[in-house]
Amino acid sequence: MTGITGQDGSYLAELLLGKGYEVHGLVRRSSTINRGRIDHIDSPDLHLHYGDLTDGVSLVNLIREIEPHEVYNLGAQSHVRVSFDMPEYTASTVAIGTLRLLEAIRELGVKCRFYQASSSEMFGAAAPPQHERTPFMPRSPYACAKVFAHQLCQNYRDAYGMFISCGILFNHESPRRGIPFVTRKITRAAARIKHGLDRRLFLGNLEARRDWGFAGDYVEAMWSMLQQDAPDDYVIATGESHSVREVLDVAFGALDLRWESHVELDPRYLRPTEVDHLHGDATKARKKLGWKPRVTFSQLITMMVRADEEDVRATLTGRAPKM
Ligand code: NAP
Ligand code: GDD
Repeated sequence: MTGITGQDGSYLAELLLGKGYEVHGLVRRSSTINRGRIDHIDSPDLHLHYGDLTDGVSLVNLIREIEPHEVYNLGAQSHVRVSFDMPEYTASTVAIGTLRLLEAIRELGVKCRFYQASSSEMFGAAAPPQHERTPFMPRSPYACAKVFAHQLCQNYRDAYGMFISCGILFNHESPRRGIPFVTRKITRAAARIKHGLDRRLFLGNLEARRDWGFAGDYVEAMWSMLQQDAPDDYVIATGESHSVREVLDVAFGALDLRWESHVELDPRYLRPTEVDHLHGDATKARKKLGWKPRVTFSQLITMMVRADEEDVRATLTGRAPKM
C-alpha cells in the first residue's frame, strides 16, 4: 500500500489486518517520524518499507521483494490548493508516481490486483450529480494529475489485461483528516475556540459544496472493488452535498458557539480556479458492490468535533494529543 501514513491508509490498514492480511506499507523518509495515524496498530503482520512515489527504483525493488497480491495506490500530494504552488511535484507523485508503480508491476510480471485512488476532483466544473460517465473537467493541477493516473489505469487494464479498479471517491473525512483540509480545519478550530486556545478562524470560499462522507466507510469500498470478478471503476459518495457554511453550522453548533463571531475571510485560501459543487451518484457501487455509507454528514462533523475536543483537553492537561 502506498499512502499508509495518510488518513485513508490508516483505516485501510486496520481493515486489511482485521481480515487476516499481511500488510506492507510504503513510508517516506523524513527527518522526524510521521506515523501518528498508524502508531496504535500493534500487529506482526504490518510491515513498513522506505520508498517514494517519485523514486521508481524503490518501487521496483519493493514490488520484486514483496510480490503483493493486492496493491492499493493511495499515496499523493493530495491538497488541491497546494497543487497550484507545487504543480510539478504534484504531477510527479500523483500522475507519474502511478505510472512508475504500474510499470514496476508490469515489468516484473507480478500478478496482482491494483486499486487506484481516483478523485471526484476530476469532475471539476462538470454539473452535479456526477457519476461514472460524467466527463472530466479538472480545475487544478492535482485534478489534472488524477485524470492522467485514472486514464492510464484504464489504458493498462485494456492494453495489458491487468486487474485495475479505480475508486472515484468523493470527499471523505474523519478525526484523522489532515488539518489543512476544510472540515478538520473547522472542527479543530471550533474545539480550540471553545476551550480558549484560539479566537479566530481564517477561511476562503464558504459557498463551495461537497459530498462529504466518513473515511472508515469508504475504505470498505476500496477493498470490495478488488474482490469482484472483474476490474471496473466506481463512484463512491453519499449522494448529499453541503456547503462549507453548513460545516460551520454543525461544528460550531455542536459546541453552542456562533461561527459568525469567529470566522474571517482570507483571500489566501481562495483557489485560482474553484470547484463549486461536487455531489456524487453512487448507484453503481450500491448495486454492484452492495456498498452504502453508514455515517451521515452531521454525525461525521460531530464525531470530528468531539475528537478535536479530546485533543484540546489532552493539550490542556499536558497529555499528547492523538493527532
Ligand atoms: P492524505 O491523508 O493526504 O495522505 C496522503 C499519503 O500519501 C500520505 O501517507 C503521504 O505520506 C503519502 N505521500 C505523499 N507524497 C508521497 C510520495 N512522494 N511518495 C509516497 N507517498 C507519498 O490523503 P488521504 O485523504 O488519505 O487520501 C488518500 C488518497 O485518496 C490520495 O491519493 C488522495 O489524493 C485520494 N483521494 C482522497 C479523497 C479524500 O477526500 N480524502 C478523495 C478522493 C481521492 P506522508 O504521511 O509522509 O505525507
Ligand atoms: N482547505 C481549505 N482551507 N479549503 C477551504 C478553506 C480553507 O481555509 N476555505 C474554504 N475552503 C473550500 C475550498 O475552496 C474547497 O472548495 C472546499 O472548501 C473543500 O476544500 P478541501 O477540504 O481542501 O478539499 P478539496 O475538495 O479541495 O479536496 C479534497 O477532496 C478531493 C475529492 O473531491 C482532497 O481530499 C483531495 O485530495 C480529494 O481528491
